[in-house]
Amino acid sequence: MPQSSTVNRRIVLNARPRGAPTAADFRIEIAPVPQPERGQVLLRTLYLSLDPYMRGRMSDAPSYAAPVALGDVMIGGTVSRVEASRNADLSVGELVLGYAGWQDYTLSDGRGLTTLFREEPHPSRALGVLGMPGFTAYMGLLDIGQPISDETVVVAAASGAVGSVVGQIARIKGCTIVGIAGGEDKCRYVTDELGFDFCVDHHADDLPGRLAAACPKGIDVYFESVGGAVFDAVLPLLNTKARVPVCGLISAYNATGLPPGPDRLGLLAGTLLRKRIKMQGFIIFDDYGPRWSEFASAMGEWVREGKVKVREDIVFGLENAPEAFIGLLRGGNFGKLVIQLAHE
Ligand SMILES: NC(=O)c1ccc[n+]([C@@H]2O[C@H](COP(=O)([O-])OP(=O)(O)OC[C@H]3O[C@@H](n4cnc5c(N)ncnc54)[C@H](OP(=O)(O)O)[C@@H]3O)[C@@H](O)[C@H]2O)c1
Repeated sequence: MPQSSTVNRRIVLNARPRGAPTAADFRIEIAPVPQPERGQVLLRTLYLSLDPYMRGRMSDAPSYAAPVALGDVMIGGTVSRVEASRNADLSVGELVLGYAGWQDYTLSDGRGLTTLFREEPHPSRALGVLGMPGFTAYMGLLDIGQPISDETVVVAAASGAVGSVVGQIARIKGCTIVGIAGGEDKCRYVTDELGFDFCVDHHADDLPGRLAAACPKGIDVYFESVGGAVFDAVLPLLNTKARVPVCGLISAYNATGLPPGPDRLGLLAGTLLRKRIKMQGFIIFDDYGPRWSEFASAMGEWVREGKVKVREDIVFGLENAPEAFIGLLRGGNFGKLVIQLAHE
């Protein structure tokens, strides 16, 4: 059923996944379109961002943010049109960035919404390079990674929403950039289109050996989004005084227990100590919210000038969101994953 003006399709959390999410963990519901009260606007969703953090919200394990309750609409960043307004600050037809979640319509009192240019030619970019993932790349790399010209920067999940931007900023800063991505197509894109110096396919044999060959001077900055076998290959190559922004650990998001094999905490701690490495996690809006406008103006300019290129993986239809999200957690996306709900 396509988006309509009479019903609100909502995708809710049906069950908490054990391991990888399945289609049965989601449920689609049909509800009436809500009517705005005084001070409210009715928002119609055009684009929904799908992001790895949503896996954490499906679980009730302790985290930095509260989980989605069973039966509640899945959360998510959205670009919406104002369809009806009883709010003096927002008029019908305005385009806004907010958190409407996985549904066609929502009500808002205007708080937390960011108004976009009404005729914005690429509204979905507000969910990617010009939004949360771009902000994450910018702050994680520049504030924690602090790359210096000629240093070697290694980027995990290099063709994705965050990684693709990290590598392009590092290129602007004059670094040698090595990406790690899943598959030949993604690696070719990372070098040929995005201008990384090398890209190593983590699906092919001997990741440690091929990564070492791509980093003859070792690694000065490693932008971590993956963990697991990728981090194991990176660790021995880190240089003295290397910096490791820990942005995410996607290889473990579906894990139900500790990884197999010997305890490697001693190896990690010993390497950090001997090489005086700085490894720091961050949660983008909690840690860097006040620096949004600095990011927005720098990234806006880089994108306008073509210094940062954008690739989106746009899937049409709200009903396809669960499958697309399940795919994201195993590398099915190629670029920033966005669901388009309507053709306007
Ligand atoms: N700390 C924060 O505030 C913050 C904010 C935003 C995002 N993040 C984190 O940043 C990371 C990237 O997010 P994104 O939105 O840019 O996603 P993305 O890179 O667009 O998509 C996820 C990618 O992760 C890779 N991947 C999945 N499972 C993997 C595995 N087992 N081993 C290796 N690679 C795997 C896949 O790429 P390949 O096919 O190339 O393997 C997949 O395409 C995630 O860890 C996310 O949680 C953190």
